[in-house]
Amino acid sequence: MARITASVYSSHVPAIGVAIDQGRTADPYYAPLFAGYEVGRRWAAENTPDVVILVFNDHANAFSLQIVPTFALGMSAEYEPADEGWGPRPVPTVFGHPALSAHLAHSVIRDDFDLTLVNEIPVDHGCTVPLSIMYGQPEEWPCKVIPLIVNVVQYPVPSGKRCLELGKAIRRAVESFDEDLDVQIWGTGGMSHQLQGERAGLINQPWDHEFLERIIDDPEELATMEHVEYVREGGSEGIELVMWLVARGAMADLAGGGEPDEIHRLYHVPASNTAVGQLILEDAASG
Ligand code: DHB
Ligand code: FE
Repeated sequence: MARITASVYSSHVPAIGVAIDQGRTADPYYAPLFAGYEVGRRWAAENTPDVVILVFNDHANAFSLQIVPTFALGMSAEYEPADEGWGPRPVPTVFGHPALSAHLAHSVIRDDFDLTLVNEIPVDHGCTVPLSIMYGQPEEWPCKVIPLIVNVVQYPVPSGKRCLELGKAIRRAVESFDEDLDVQIWGTGGMSHQLQGERAGLINQPWDHEFLERIIDDPEELATMEHVEYVREGGSEGIELVMWLVARGAMADLAGGGEPDEIHRLYHVPASNTAVGQLILEDAASG
């Protein structure tokens, strides 16, 4: 059977992708951040899954603002990098796992989550930057990727509780897929940042650190945090952090199993206008 082995939590700041694409990771501005990423990259190389379920938000690139689904699941065999205004990033095509997507859709929708099924979609920096952070610049991504796109762009956006519960439903779905697959789930976005308006540039380090603690130790309690707190404390785009709760919801401890192992925690300020976080939790059940 398929199993969830780990969850990864990662900012998806586009400038980090540009630094990788343009060979500027050793620049003085970026060197400390990329030094911090080394542990995660080594772990990723040693723990390459068959499939990553990659939770991110589309930034009005694929869906524009004509249609804004709350939760959308990629069903395809492949996803091209999106043109976000200056041409697509020079990164590999993202290959999907249509059979697992079909099973996830079946199981999660029958579990009362109304997913939008997306048969064709380009993937923006929300998806490709976390892949680049972990895997660098390969000819091909080392695993299959299933995009799960969450609306955090137009209100109303889903609650933390809803996101956590979706993660639990994804775990149930993965565990009932009749193929021997190692599956990771990655939640992306955040940490505190605001890209617009009077508070543009807002970063809230104490609040981010507390978020990192709470998502590890008490995700059920963290999931009760209201949107207004994300926005007030973490900035208008800090709301992206609700997507981390989808990944956290898929861990064994929330299904009656053991606590996850914290493999790595990184916090760095700033990249562009954003506080950068990264967290890797290995599932207790994965052995
Ligand atoms: C930026 C964009 C993002 O989507 C994000 O999550 C963080 C930063 C930016 O444009 O700098
Ligand atoms: Fe974003």
